Amino acid sequence: MGKRLTPVMLCSLLLPWLQALAQDVSFDEIQPILQARCVICHAGEAAPLGLRLTSLDELLKGSKSRPVVQRGEPSDSELIKRLKGLSQPRMPMTGPPFLSDAEIALFERWIAGGLKPGSRSSTATIPPTPLQHPSAGQPVTYAHVAPIFASRCVKCHSAYGLMGSAPEGLLLNAYVAILDRDERVRVVPGSSLASELVRRIRGQSQPRMPYDGPPYLSDEEIQLIVDWIDQGARDADGRPAPSPVGSRVRLQGVLGEGWTLDSLQLVVGPESRIDKSPGVGDYVEVRGRWSQDGRVLVERIRRR
Ligand code: HEC
Ligand code: HEC
Repeated sequence: MGKRLTPVMLCSLLLPWLQALAQDVSFDEIQPILQARCVICHAGEAAPLGLRLTSLDELLKGSKSRPVVQRGEPSDSELIKRLKGLSQPRMPMTGPPFLSDAEIALFERWIAGGLKPGSRSSTATIPPTPLQHPSAGQPVTYAHVAPIFASRCVKCHSAYGLMGSAPEGLLLNAYVAILDRDERVRVVPGSSLASELVRRIRGQSQPRMPYDGPPYLSDEEIQLIVDWIDQGARDADGRPAPSPVGSRVRLQGVLGEGWTLDSLQLVVGPESRIDKSPGVGDYVEVRGRWSQDGRVLVERIRRR
């Protein structure tokens, strides 16, 4: 005969679960989630809306305009609204995936239970994740540069970003999207000089990116992206991207002697359309195609 569930047995089964529910959540359980999913953006000088989530104190300070948690009132807390998508854009902005129901419930219980501090000091700060460089002799891969795009670009350059759809249709949240060559290439594997993305982060092409800068990217971050592209814009597994020969490019910059754009050689021929008589030193927009021999065959060049 099968065992019958007696009331005593039932209680002993449910008790640990009820106890867990009743137990207060402390910041010790919140901090690892912030570390894994939030501080890539909500840290430092460039923290969105000034909201830093790197320590309990910073979280309680809230953003420039308001506190993000209301003690005892999870449903009135902006942080919960953002995690559930009741307030847009939904957090984390790198999602989907967003947080699991269980993780969101932890935040709710922590707020409902009075924002109990953890075992560490409330000023204990999650250290910034240092830039990952390849080990000696190894190439830079997408794995090294993806965190830069995630922390500084994805908030706009994603399908549901701060500016609505991605500016210029440019998605920077996935390898395949960054190398997309449907309309035109913004990253030319093997040539940082011909990559509009690099021109933008250096400010050779205007407006400089990130659009909400300063702060712009650090020299070290820019160099890592330049090396990534010059070494073939490899995927996270180290496989180089295919060459985009024949793809369209659209570049902006200052015209130099002998049809150069900041030392990138342009090929201007009889078929090239030249508008508004651009001269050396002028800021121009160049449309063309990437050629086999690593030059830009100009279709149109125009002074801006
Ligand atoms: C990819 C970058 C990114 C990530 C990752 C991210 N956020 Fe945000 N967060 C933003 C941006 C950008 C804004 C500003 C959005 C706006 O203008 O409303 C924002 C705004 C917020 C706000 C609103 C503040 C206010 O005053 O209205 C809260 C709360 C928030 N984030 C919490 C979180 C939490 C919690 C996580 C992790 C689970 C997280 N964010 C992860 C980029 C990010
Ligand atoms: C606050 C929003 C925002 C952020 C953050 C942002 N961008 Fe942009 N991006 C824009 C806008 C808006 C444009 C269109 C600007 C224009 O040319 O008028 C743009 C355009 C670009 C272009 C030109 C696309 C093309 O087809 O020519 C590139 C490349 C680019 N961004 C790269 C980046 C990179 C890389 C980052 C991160 C380091 C970044 N952006 C961060 C808003 C943003």
